Amino acid sequence: LSGLKTTLFGKNIHYYDEAGSSNDIAKKLAPTAEEGTIVVVEQQTGGRGRLGRQWASPKGGIWFSTILKPRIALSAASRLTLTFGLSVTKALREFGFDAKIKWPNDVLVNGKKVCGILTEVDAEIDTVEFVVIGIGINANMSLKDIPEELRENSTTLRDEGGKSIDRVEFLQKLLFEMEQEYIRFSTRPFSEIMEEIITLSDTIGREVTVNMPNRIAEGTVVGISKTGALLLKRTDGEIEEIIAGRCIYTKK
Ligand code: BTN
Repeated sequence: LSGLKTTLFGKNIHYYDEAGSSNDIAKKLAPTAEEGTIVVVEQQTGGRGRLGRQWASPKGGIWFSTILKPRIALSAASRLTLTFGLSVTKALREFGFDAKIKWPNDVLVNGKKVCGILTEVDAEIDTVEFVVIGIGINANMSLKDIPEELRENSTTLRDEGGKSIDRVEFLQKLLFEMEQEYIRFSTRPFSEIMEEIITLSDTIGREVTVNMPNRIAEGTVVGISKTGALLLKRTDGEIEEIIAGRCIYTKK
């Protein structure tokens, strides 16, 4: 990554041809690692997704994790996931893709998922010690390289763009976007980042089912709050603010 224009993100890089999960390696390194250290894995044999799911990680994708040590409360950690979803979206748009954000943290190209983010936090009482941000991008591969049961409504950059992308150039651009957003996150009101996320959101106006740990809510998304919560107009007419959950579109 010799063309890197960042001072923090990617200053230290750990690269593996093959490993279980870059998030697991990053979590082990985190206590002694410098903030901004990244772990890049060419092929993950135990890639993990949110909610305990598997994440297919064949060769050709971009699978990496970033170690951060923000001075934030545990409850604010999910804001980082939203923030880096914005960075991925911006980097993809610079590469000419029609990228949008699906709440809370998927990035879609042409309406299909190309990127997932898995944030893992280590906290002491309510203070964050470190955060590992795992980002997976289906880049130079085809949907055929993903097992059928894990395909969901996914796609790959190669399938959408008709050609492979320069992954090194893309990662440099992405790390630059991530560093910019992280500086903004640390120095500006979060509502500033949220405003931009809202303009790039694919989810507002959608009819959805939201799965939460103990229940399900159904309705139409009428907005996203400045704190990052989904504003759902439920079928009974009530507006509900949902802080975390899995969002499924019920209509295309
Ligand atoms: C999701 O949408 O469920 C999140 C997927 C996150 C995948 C990335 S790939 C790099 C990092 N290492 C992992 O094992 N998972 C994340």
